[in-house]
Amino acid sequence: MVETAGMDRELTIGEVARRAGVPVPTVRYYESRGLLSARRTTGNQRRYDRSVLRRLAVVAAAARIGLPLAEVGAAFAELPADRAPDREDWARLSAGWRRRVDKRIAELESLREDLDGCIGCGCLSLDRCALVNPADEAAAEGPGSRWVRRARSTATSPGRRGA
Ligand code: FES
Repeated sequence: MVETAGMDRELTIGEVARRAGVPVPTVRYYESRGLLSARRTTGNQRRYDRSVLRRLAVVAAAARIGLPLAEVGAAFAELPADRAPDREDWARLSAGWRRRVDKRIAELESLREDLDGCIGCGCLSLDRCALVNPADEAAAEGPGSRWVRRARSTATSPGRRGA
């Protein structure tokens, strides 16, 4: 028989922080951003449903792929407020992020390919720069590494340099 004693018990902020592997202030911060919610005891202490652990895991995963907290919060707002999210709720949420993750992967692959060549930053320091970006033509598009920026906005578009 599986031990279930205490499984329904709410968690203190310290327990949440320890289980999630984050500092207590981080839990408070996420709560202030609307990513988590807690009920208050009569002594004004926070008590969290155990489902916040999954929320914190999702926040950590989203941070790893560069999703802003505001976007995570918007996704969490779609989760049911009257019960802990179930498997289908999380599957729906992750499906919405799949395209975003795919785009991010394409951006990173593009960045990996571009970093050893000319990225249109104006340095003209590589042998290839004189061929790909003669006289710093990329500067006409604005400051910074223009072709990396352009690649980020059109991550899956091949031949984006037009050279
Ligand atoms: S890498 Fe800087 S201009 Fe080519």
